[in-house]
Amino acid sequence: MKKALILTGGGDCPGLNAVIRAVYKRAKQEPDWELYGSIEAFNGVLSEPRQIIKITSELVAGIHVKGGTILKTTNKGNPLNFPVEKPDGTVVFEDRSDALVEKLKALKFDAIINVGGDGSQRISKALFDKGIPMIGVPKTIDNDLSATDVTFGFQTAVQVATDSFDKLVTTAESHHRVMIMEVMGRDAGWIALHTAIAGGAEICLIPEIPYDIKKILERISQRYSRGKGFVNIVVAEGAHAIGSTTVGEGEKGSEHKRLRGIAYQLSDELKAAGCVAEVRETILGHIQRGGTPTAYDRVLASLFGVKAFELALEGKFGQMVTFRNNQISSVPLEEATREYNYVDKNSYLVKAARGLGISFGD
Ligand code: F6P
Repeated sequence: MKKALILTGGGDCPGLNAVIRAVYKRAKQEPDWELYGSIEAFNGVLSEPRQIIKITSELVAGIHVKGGTILKTTNKGNPLNFPVEKPDGTVVFEDRSDALVEKLKALKFDAIINVGGDGSQRISKALFDKGIPMIGVPKTIDNDLSATDVTFGFQTAVQVATDSFDKLVTTAESHHRVMIMEVMGRDAGWIALHTAIAGGAEICLIPEIPYDIKKILERISQRYSRGKGFVNIVVAEGAHAIGSTTVGEGEKGSEHKRLRGIAYQLSDELKAAGCVAEVRETILGHIQRGGTPTAYDRVLASLFGVKAFELALEGKFGQMVTFRNNQISSVPLEEATREYNYVDKNSYLVKAARGLGISFGD
């Protein structure tokens, strides 16, 4: 029998289970293949005892509608930069990729399907370069991978954010308030931008366009002076004022600063600058990452899963599945991880948002 291994890495995302189910269903049509799953990304391979399970029909039945991942995940398990806690409580990062490669070679998998974002696909590339038959499946609610037009999970996150935004509009209007809603988006403001357009925000703040607090105040004052006594702002967690940095703090064992709190910082800045209205803040957080994927995301995730297994059948390793120009295809992992997908401030999306009267605070 030939053996494929699937794992999910990085932050979870609605649609991961639909990918696992699709890979299993396609693999089942090949009598000489079986599918295994590593628990918590590559930690399942590295840990003693190993945590690798056989994927069965019972395990995947009906999981395409569920959020999260039945294989669990972690964003603190990068084998290229693995966090190790020392006896004094400090954490150091070690390259464990050689140990991982040795273990994977001993396990003799014929294909390894790594479902994950930018960081996970860099791991796929590093392992492929060391001789492991890797295939990548892109995953990010942030839509920050440039090799694919879209990833599953993004649309679900935008829908959750838009539903929440709509609720905040009615309460902003009743109280004549300024409502700030913080959404995810570490380096790219896609969720904020789509939510602002879908929800009809007055102001949208994204990492790619640093804001000027005076411009935001002007916009708020205009709204109130025209008798529209409320304002709804969407801000991406990675947004920041001109000349300042993102708001957040380091977390033990994590390679990244944990972003959180720009909504409160902006609120304080507005109050300090003499904002005429009362301001309230909402941080949406992980609600955007949980729950049932939209039908669109289930479809995309299922297409990605089937394609990933077909790449394995064809022996096309070192590739990441993509969705470009309405076609499911693949690109070399090197291309997949080369560029980050930032919002282009000269793009039609941003121009259209401005055309709708949305201010970016610039
Ligand atoms: O990368 C996806 C993302 O949702 C970012 O937008 C956010 O900064 C991060 O994950 C939060 O991750 P965690 O689960 O570690 O809080």
